[in-house]
Amino acid sequence: METKKKVGGLAGIIAGKSAICTVGTGHGLNYRGYDIYELAALSEFEEVAYLLIFGNLPKKSELQTFKHKLKAARALPNALKEGLKLIPKDAHPMDVMRTGCSLLGCVEKEKPDFSNQEDIAIRLLGIFPSILAFWHHYHLNQTEIDTQSEQDCIAGYFLEKLHLKPPKELWIKAMNVSLILYAEHEFNASTFTARIVTSTLSDTYSAITAAIGALRGPLHGGANEAAMDLIAEFSTPEEAFKGVQKKLAQKAKIMGFGHRVYVKADPRNVVIKEWSKKLAQDVGNKIIYPISEAIEKLMWEEKKLFPNLDFYSASTYHFMGIPTAYFTPIFIMSRTAGWLSHIFEQRQDNRLIRPSSEYIGPENRPYVPIEKR
Ligand code: COA
Repeated sequence: METKKKVGGLAGIIAGKSAICTVGTGHGLNYRGYDIYELAALSEFEEVAYLLIFGNLPKKSELQTFKHKLKAARALPNALKEGLKLIPKDAHPMDVMRTGCSLLGCVEKEKPDFSNQEDIAIRLLGIFPSILAFWHHYHLNQTEIDTQSEQDCIAGYFLEKLHLKPPKELWIKAMNVSLILYAEHEFNASTFTARIVTSTLSDTYSAITAAIGALRGPLHGGANEAAMDLIAEFSTPEEAFKGVQKKLAQKAKIMGFGHRVYVKADPRNVVIKEWSKKLAQDVGNKIIYPISEAIEKLMWEEKKLFPNLDFYSASTYHFMGIPTAYFTPIFIMSRTAGWLSHIFEQRQDNRLIRPSSEYIGPENRPYVPIEKR
């Protein structure tokens, strides 16, 4: 895949070495050398998380142990429960996740020599779905959910705890694929944020909390939520075509389209689009998928812009009855695996990340006392 050359925003700048992921560099999208299409079709998210964090695909017994630990990591400490109860009902769920991560860091500290970093990795992967589901039900019905479950995968666990009933196998599969596709993407804004924080020798919770802050914006992870808001504005493909045409004429950005690195297509789109179509059929929704395709067609015709992973993830999640504001928090549940792998890699060969700027301010000038200004 070609790489765009652009000025500003560190576009095209090689900002460090990494052995985790290739994006648009002629290799296709790979996690630690494994093709994303094979991983999405054949593996489960926990295998991918293990691969990213520990460097190799797990053996059967290693995967079992990993999943067992992830299951145990779902329990919420009391201090975190109390904190989540205090966060207002109208807070953005991304702020809930960011605060939950930071609060956990206050009660289950990382050791200064990072010797418990792997325990913290498992804890964060396991606990994020519980944080969101607990806050959701507490503020919806004032009930404290039980975070225990027989579901042995994060995808099934989150769907079960959100809807409080066993999820369909098809939905677990769709969620699993989506988590795999979202798990890692090289030096994107949130991952780079995590690496910068790590480079100061700060702790894992601080790096992940900062990464969540970066992911929240609509130019990055927040695009999946914004894409659903856009799709929901329209009731027919014709309406969507005209409505998006009008937005483009007003120079609006259409969230879920375009990419900093990819120029012709996002390789993940073909996979998630297929799942969106499957789930539309499963729930009998004949409106949203055709609207999404109409927007896709128009964006290509008018701007030569293609859907990125966020665009069809939006409808995929919507078909599973997931509230739109939870779309980017699901991204966290997955990308935490990628962030953790980068945090550990940064620690292995650390040097403070501290670039320089080109100064474009005023020339030196004498200080003027306040009474003379
Ligand atoms: N809708 C409309 N126009 C878009 C666009 C979009 N989604 N994405 C890019 N463009 C246009 C820009 O307006 C700009 O046009 P101009 O040169 O006439 O000003 C041009 O394409 C270049 O865009 P720019 O934002 O400078 O490119 P970038 O490499 O910095 O941006 C993104 C990459 C992802 C930030 C950008 O495509 C975007 O904002 N997309 C929407 C948000 C999104 O989906 N983010 C998730 C990414 S995975």
